[in-house]
Amino acid sequence: MTDHASRSPDAEAIASQFELGWGVLVGVIIALLLGMIVFTAVHWSSMPPSRVEVVEASTLHRTGEFVQDNLGTAVDATGRIVVRMLAAQYAFRPSCVVVPEGVPVTFRATSSDVVHGFQILGTNVNSMVVPGYVSTFEMTLHGVGERAMPCHEFCGVGHASMWARVRVLPWSKFQALSRAKRRTSCV
Ligand code: CUA
Repeated sequence: MTDHASRSPDAEAIASQFELGWGVLVGVIIALLLGMIVFTAVHWSSMPPSRVEVVEASTLHRTGEFVQDNLGTAVDATGRIVVRMLAAQYAFRPSCVVVPEGVPVTFRATSSDVVHGFQILGTNVNSMVVPGYVSTFEMTLHGVGERAMPCHEFCGVGHASMWARVRVLPWSKFQALSRAKRRTSCV
């Protein structure tokens, strides 16, 4: 006779206790993960994107917002400062971005090939850059100087060399620069 054909009440009790143990463990793990999300949201202001914006990845180079001469930093008609960037294996375009210090700046980025990442070291600016979607976030950088902006999503053999720089300028310097050119960068 096989074992499972005649399970004793004892074996049943052990099994159900074992199951209960696993159930509790899984419950604890779920509670921990939810707790982590709440903690990072409240304590580090780390939020998931609040909206989804799509873009046609295959025609980015030829038409629309992310064509070559529209990339970089621009001040629009309402005075809003917008940085547009294109990520592609294995570079960001432009590879050096200019932003003013202490003023809110809107970043808009997308990818023309695979998933890339976007992170400005020393800040909470951190986003994925996904083909077909526009990653948008607003931020204010403090402290004049240059910050590194590596790609933090493995995107192929050249991933480790995919870097850009963010140059934070005093407001007056930035203004002079953006008056001289419609799109600025520090490439
Ligand atoms: Cu792009 Cu890693």
